[in-house]
Amino acid sequence: MLNKADEHLFKAALGNYPTGVAIVTTVDNEGHPVGLTINSFTSLSMDPLLVLWSIDHKSSSIHTFKETGKFVVHLLAEDQNELVRIFSKKDLDRFSEINWSFSANQLPIIEGAFAVFECETFQTIEAGDHTIFIGSVKNMQVKEKSPLLYHRRTVGSIPLGFHA
Ligand SMILES: Cc1cc2nc3c(=O)[nH]c(=O)nc-3n(C[C@H](O)[C@H](O)[C@H](O)COP(=O)(O)O)c2cc1C
Repeated sequence: MLNKADEHLFKAALGNYPTGVAIVTTVDNEGHPVGLTINSFTSLSMDPLLVLWSIDHKSSSIHTFKETGKFVVHLLAEDQNELVRIFSKKDLDRFSEINWSFSANQLPIIEGAFAVFECETFQTIEAGDHTIFIGSVKNMQVKEKSPLLYHRRTVGSIPLGFHA
């Protein structure tokens, strides 16, 4: 059982783990777009092409993502820091603030990301206070743009130096 000090250490360690930033979107049953900022995105499989991300059970859109069975992951470019705020802020008409359009599959596509993956939900897994969504990539657009990075509650672009 974790005590408060362990929780603090856990959060501190994860906050010091740099990630990219993404926005996931889908549509509700009236056709309205929904979406949120995430950094839980990761690639999962090459054959078939699978990606995953997780959503907090408290999120207002979790039921919509479960019902629609499809979603779009946008991997944000370094000039898209404003979107991080818009899609993590409560009580905001998020899509009225940004440039977006529907794809041929009637999914909301946000402009300017360096990668856009249109997915069908392949599997969901209940895990603690989050649900993991695994998506099968059905369509993608990729551009040569630098990514937006997230580290210690700060977004920006880091000049990385070493080839792994
Ligand atoms: C950088 C960043 C990463 C985030 N990653 C996640 C995530 O992976 N999963 C999640 O459920 N919420 C994540 N959040 C929080 C949601 O974006 C935020 O709670 C949002 O308001 C949820 O949408 P809702 O207000 O419609 O419930 C993240 C927020 C930020 C700023």
